Amino acid sequence: MNKILVINGPNLNLLGTREPEIYGSTTLADINAMLKARADELDLDIDFMQSNIEGEIVTAIQEARDKYNFILLNAAAFTHYSIAIRDAIAAISVPVIEIHLSNVHAREEFRHHSVIAPVVMGQISGFGVDSYIAALDIAARKLKKIRGEGKL
Ligand code: DQA
Repeated sequence: MNKILVINGPNLNLLGTREPEIYGSTTLADINAMLKARADELDLDIDFMQSNIEGEIVTAIQEARDKYNFILLNAAAFTHYSIAIRDAIAAISVPVIEIHLSNVHAREEFRHHSVIAPVVMGQISGFGVDSYIAALDIAARKLKKIRGEGKL
C-alpha cells in the first residue's frame, strides 16, 4: 500500500479563522477530510500531522524516511527561512511536494523565496484547498509511474 504523509506547519491549525480573506474559511480538519476522501478514491493510505514547532517537523520528515512513499508539505512561514527543514528533506529519499494555499509570489517579497524549493519535487501555490488535492493527485500519478516503470 502506498503511504502519504501530509505535514502542515505553524499557524495552519488556525485555518478557518486565520486571515480568511487570504486563506479562506476552510478549516484544517475540513482539508484533511477532503484529502482522506480523495486518498480513499486513489487507494492510498494517508496520515496527517501539524506542528507549530520547527524541530517537530524536522523529526516528522526524518521519521517518514522508511514509512512513507510521498510527503505533502505546507511548511507555512518555515518555507521562507528554515534551513533545518530544507536539510531534513535533502537527507531523505522520500519525494516531497511543497504546498501553499495562497500564491506566495503575489504577496510580500519575503514570501517569494522558498529555501525548500531546491530540494522538493515541485511547488503548488495559490489554489487554496485545491493546492492540497492537486498535490495528492500528482503523488498518486507519480507512484503509479514508479510501480509501472521503476522511476519517478
Ligand atoms: C502559506 C504561505 C506562507 O507564506 C505563510 O507563512 C503561511 C501559509 C500558504 O499556505 O499560503 O503560513 O504557506
